[in-house]
Amino acid sequence: MTHRVALVTGGSRGIGEAICRRLAADGMTVIVASRSKDKVDEVAASIGANGGVAHGRALDTSDVGSMKEIVKEITDSFGGLHVLVNNAGITADNLMMRISEDDYDRVLNTNLKGVFFLSQAVIRPMMRQKWGRVINITSVVGLMGNVGQANYAASKAGVLGLTKSMAKELGSRNVTVNAIAPGYIETDMTKDLNADVRDAFLKQVPLGRMGVPEEIAHSVSFLASEQAGYITGQVLTVDGGLYM
Ligand SMILES: NC(=O)c1ccc[n+]([C@@H]2O[C@H](COP(=O)([O-])OP(=O)(O)OC[C@H]3O[C@@H](n4cnc5c(N)ncnc54)[C@H](O)[C@@H]3O)[C@@H](O)[C@H]2O)c1
Repeated sequence: MTHRVALVTGGSRGIGEAICRRLAADGMTVIVASRSKDKVDEVAASIGANGGVAHGRALDTSDVGSMKEIVKEITDSFGGLHVLVNNAGITADNLMMRISEDDYDRVLNTNLKGVFFLSQAVIRPMMRQKWGRVINITSVVGLMGNVGQANYAASKAGVLGLTKSMAKELGSRNVTVNAIAPGYIETDMTKDLNADVRDAFLKQVPLGRMGVPEEIAHSVSFLASEQAGYITGQVLTVDGGLYM
């Protein structure tokens, strides 16, 4: 495979960390990005110790002003940017009648505005290369809604509209744009679910278990590959059959 450079947001733990490890195992140079420089440096060092190539970068996806500069620094330092995985995301759950403007803004800024402007920043380098992959980690909740997650569901549904629009705008430049919609995956985001809520969730999942971050990472690896070159504007649900 031609040498590729991948930028993964929210790479310090959970699904993002698994994606970084998988893309590095695929032979890419991986830029592990998240708010905490110490944590991304730890992940990058651990990938390096296992024979991969990875570098840490501090990146706050709610800070739109910094994005063009970060993308330029990466393309200058590594000779290009071929794969962007918009993975960073947060929740601030509550019943809709109790969601504050601050909780709405925090979730929408990180999960949707950040994805929009980081994706905008990679358009020029990917068009110049005539090759690019943008992979957005959304959620089944963006497809089916969820009680207590109206702000989060709105942000993830927004990413689906963005994914399809960007796919239409960039298809002629050989840049594909797809979304992955995970179901319930075992990470810090879901570790505090109490046993009753967890059991109620699992009853709705035909495969009867939560997923693991590596199962999302495998799908990212496929969508980032040469073999997925004729797939764009799609949403791949990786959810044990929860949404069908
Ligand atoms: N875990 C699940 O069940 C599940 C289900 C569906 C979708 N998702 C989505 O998958 C993605 C990863 O989730 P996870 O479960 O690994 O969560 P997590 O909370 O374990 O990790 C989130 C990562 O995003 C980073 N992050 C948060 N805000 C950021 C910001 N402003 N700038 C940069 N980095 C930021 C965190 O530091 C962390 O590295 C999220 O977009 C989430 O919405 C998760």
